[in-house]
Amino acid sequence: MLKSVLLQAVTSAGAIMKESFQGSFKISNKEGINNLVTEVDHASEKAIIEIIKNSYPDHFILSEEAGEIVMDSDYKWIVDPIDGTVNFANGIPICCVSIAVERKGTIILGAVFNPFFDELFVAEKGKGAFLNNKPLQVSEKAELDSACLVTGFPYQLLDEPNGPLVIFEKLIRKGIPLRRLGSAAIDLCWVAAGRFDGFYEHKLEAWDSAAGFLIVEEAGGKITDFSGNYYSPYQPSLLATNGKIHEELRAFINGAN
Ligand code: IPD
Ligand code: CA
Ligand code: CA
Repeated sequence: MLKSVLLQAVTSAGAIMKESFQGSFKISNKEGINNLVTEVDHASEKAIIEIIKNSYPDHFILSEEAGEIVMDSDYKWIVDPIDGTVNFANGIPICCVSIAVERKGTIILGAVFNPFFDELFVAEKGKGAFLNNKPLQVSEKAELDSACLVTGFPYQLLDEPNGPLVIFEKLIRKGIPLRRLGSAAIDLCWVAAGRFDGFYEHKLEAWDSAAGFLIVEEAGGKITDFSGNYYSPYQPSLLATNGKIHEELRAFINGAN
């Protein structure tokens, strides 16, 4: 039941994204420069919240634009109505809906849907990760030097020691292919699918990573913060890899070489 509501929510929101993609929609700025939200983010979020509330009126919901709908419940839905809004607003079809379900602090379900590529990634704790119902497995590459990576840039922290620009430059100078897609949820799913060997980002929010975390973990990958602590959606830094390059990339990010 939880899973079918989750799937209904991501696919309905994905349909809203797809319908609105070629049309005109209002775009507003949040804090900072180019930190956008569109009316489609709000429409997607409204549909998701309605679907969850229809079946589970007493569940807690944490959603990027609406904030917290606080309920005294063991269950929390963690929602990003559009991950990759800047892409969406510019007509770049690398964007998705991302929803996770947490039970008593453990993420038990995650789904990420990119309606433009028609790719639905789903994971259930202990039951594997799937792309359009086919099982997913992370890549086998064992060395950072042969890895293909992806990252994202937060609006803050750019000038920190070992900040996003420093690490980006070091990896590029090392000759490592390092992409920036603009959707953390898709970055994570593509690690799970073995398209990337690793993904890191200095500052993410729970809704960016919660579903993708479970998808990576269930595909056999490893996901920690930059200090190597087990993933929590509520702390900022995130490193997700195929497991094999994890420590080498983590040491590199922390300035070891
Ligand atoms: C953003 C995307 C981007 C990441 C940013 C996120 P949004 O989410 O995931 O890839 O670099 O940190 O904020 O704003 O498009 O939902
Ligand atoms: Ca996001
Ligand atoms: Ca968003």
